[in-house]
Amino acid sequence: MTIGASLPHDSAPLHVTGQARYVDDVPLPQGALHLAFGLSTEAHAEITALDLTEVLAAPGVVAVFSAQNLPDMPDVSPTVQDEPLLAVGKVHYAGQPVFLVVAHSHLQARKAARLAKITYAPLPALLTVEQALAANSRFEQGPIVWSRGDIADLSKAAVVVEGEFEVGGQEHFYLEGQIAAAIPQEDGMHIIASTQHPTEIQHKVAHALHLPMSAVRVEMRRMGGGFGGKESQGNALAVACAVAAHATGKPCKLRYDRDDDMVITGKRHDLKIRYKAGADAQGRLMAVDFTHLVRCGWSQDLSLAVADRAMLHADNCYFIPNIRIESHRLKTNTQSATAYRGFGGPQGIVGIERVIDHLAHQLGLDPVTVMRRNLYAPMGSAPQTTPYGMAVEDSITDQILDRLIETSNYHARRDAVAKFNAQSPILKKGIALTPVKFGISFTLTFLNQAGALVHVYQDGSVSVNHGGTEMGQGLNQKVAQVTGQVFGLTAGQVKITAADTGKVPNTSATAASSGSDLNGKAAENAALTIRDRLAAFIADKHGVSPDTVRFTQGQVRVGGEVYDFARVVAWAYQARVSLSSTGFYATPKINWDRVKGQGRPFLYFAYGASVTEVVIDTLTGENRILRCDILHDTGTSLNPVLDIGQIEGAYVQGAGWLTTEELVWNAKGHLTTHAPSTYKIPAVSDRPEVFNVDLWTVPNAEDTVGKSKAVGEPPFNLGISAFMALSHAVSACGPAYPALNAPATAERVLMAVQRGQNV
Ligand code: MTE
Ligand code: MOS
Repeated sequence: MTIGASLPHDSAPLHVTGQARYVDDVPLPQGALHLAFGLSTEAHAEITALDLTEVLAAPGVVAVFSAQNLPDMPDVSPTVQDEPLLAVGKVHYAGQPVFLVVAHSHLQARKAARLAKITYAPLPALLTVEQALAANSRFEQGPIVWSRGDIADLSKAAVVVEGEFEVGGQEHFYLEGQIAAAIPQEDGMHIIASTQHPTEIQHKVAHALHLPMSAVRVEMRRMGGGFGGKESQGNALAVACAVAAHATGKPCKLRYDRDDDMVITGKRHDLKIRYKAGADAQGRLMAVDFTHLVRCGWSQDLSLAVADRAMLHADNCYFIPNIRIESHRLKTNTQSATAYRGFGGPQGIVGIERVIDHLAHQLGLDPVTVMRRNLYAPMGSAPQTTPYGMAVEDSITDQILDRLIETSNYHARRDAVAKFNAQSPILKKGIALTPVKFGISFTLTFLNQAGALVHVYQDGSVSVNHGGTEMGQGLNQKVAQVTGQVFGLTAGQVKITAADTGKVPNTSATAASSGSDLNGKAAENAALTIRDRLAAFIADKHGVSPDTVRFTQGQVRVGGEVYDFARVVAWAYQARVSLSSTGFYATPKINWDRVKGQGRPFLYFAYGASVTEVVIDTLTGENRILRCDILHDTGTSLNPVLDIGQIEGAYVQGAGWLTTEELVWNAKGHLTTHAPSTYKIPAVSDRPEVFNVDLWTVPNAEDTVGKSKAVGEPPFNLGISAFMALSHAVSACGPAYPALNAPATAERVLMAVQRGQNV
């Protein structure tokens, strides 16, 4: 079997030997030019004078572009045309590109970009959600409200908890920064870019150059990580390169320096969550009232869909009879917040997990007891519906909890933690479990489609191209496995080629974890078309029915004969059988009305749970993860080792988001944490010392590729258990509820400890 084989990432040998080519490694034709943006130093201001004479006169500079000489300013927004490539008249955040330098070298361009003389007339800057709310600065008319039942039921609750907490944003910190290059052709533009969305780059470049999309070709072999940060944030680089290449006739490349990357590009949406929740004396939820104050930054980008997904995950694994969710999409003078692994889902889930934690504390119950009392009805029983009206038909949270609680020895360890804390005055331990339910499909229904192109060459070798992009997640290997399975070949016999808009058109971003679901099915359909042709041909030769032909282990079995796959292919070629096919897939069953907040936005849910144990030092707030146990639902895994890699990485990234990764803006709206020296992502040494990851491999009830489930984003949410374990540890310091904000940095843990001790 090829599907389900634990094959390493197809590029693993290239990654470890440094031979894997990224955009910056691709040699450009002679005379290539290098670009750099000059950035705004103001968060909100009118540009009253822009003097670029010194920039233009600097060594190596070939051209400088700004609103002064680009009257037809290209737009780089993925949605509503509100992002001019370069500032026109006003700047809207500190870090916004104002002008573009074209020079002979990267360093010359960057040095020249410092020489501009820009005069600003400052305007009031809205930096926080409170300021934006007071100014009614937002992206939709008013707040979006979805509700079910009546939250007045809160008044009948035996116990009510209420609070407001901050959830920080997150820098993507892809190892390979944003980069693109444009190479002018005799009849259009060729772009190579580090992007999750080649079709969008093609669209924006075509628009900027007034070319049809057919005259622009975008190629993408691999990214050194994207994490959502390369869904839309690469548009500016590719369009800048295209504009400069068009003007100069030379190949142009733009690579952000790490600090520029952090200052210019959008991050995960931070938000404030206000909650009021009521339960009966046993902890059964009666009513929950959520308000999400989402900081979207200066342009709309993907914020509406991100804020929607936060609302769609405000229930997590729990049936909440009465619920109201009010979501404010606030426009601020900061970087335009964008997609980041989970796409708002984690922000929604952390809200309800906070409510459960708070209620359990108030009731003196183990949070797991409260969770158990509120889970959606298990798969097989009459389904309950989500607040947005989708029946939850596949809930396996109860089964996952049963198994994980046993394998992690949760209850005994919780007792041991209590005993440890009773005799340890300085160090305190905490342990927490977090279940996860994550919806799979793009909520913008039309995006749930994919194409593929499979070629079988006359020597029997196979190449496959699909609409997805490889960013380290192992999508190419999974698609090769699916294609190989159809032909009875191993994945190694199937060559995957770079994503290319000239081969597969009209692709969606590789996002929403749907890469293998969509492109795997499309490639499978393309391969099946060719296999059917081969089967019909060879069956006819043997006077048997095509459905008796078997493709397995590199061979074709027909009418008692066994041939090498290559031999059958050579015969078919000589008999003029077409050996190439496109394939297409569109996700069935889904429908969604985002205005009403009703429908079935997801084909299915992916589930999982984690248990994290931490220890804190109550004198300094320093803390570490001691152990993590995960059980995660992959359906029939297409590739267990790749899936385990996704789950481990996602957990660590999720834990980083809620613990050490802190973004700080100063009073002028400058991001002060714009380098690895000030922004703390988890390091290798932060991986839990004991890290047990297990897969739940019951086949997907829906007809997905190989009966698998998407795995890219759902396990990110498992990191929430690290945050809740810190909450548990702090609660050992006093009777008050710890009420931690996220990220729970050492500083914040220390402050919470002191609050607890002072009660
Ligand atoms: N894994 C690696 N190594 N690098 C990445 O950039 N991005 C994540 C996830 N896993 C990412 C990753 C995000 S945000 C998504 S949406 C999915 O991969 C996209 O790929 P998939 O749909 O093929 O799972
Ligand atoms: Mo992932 S945030 O959907 O790119």
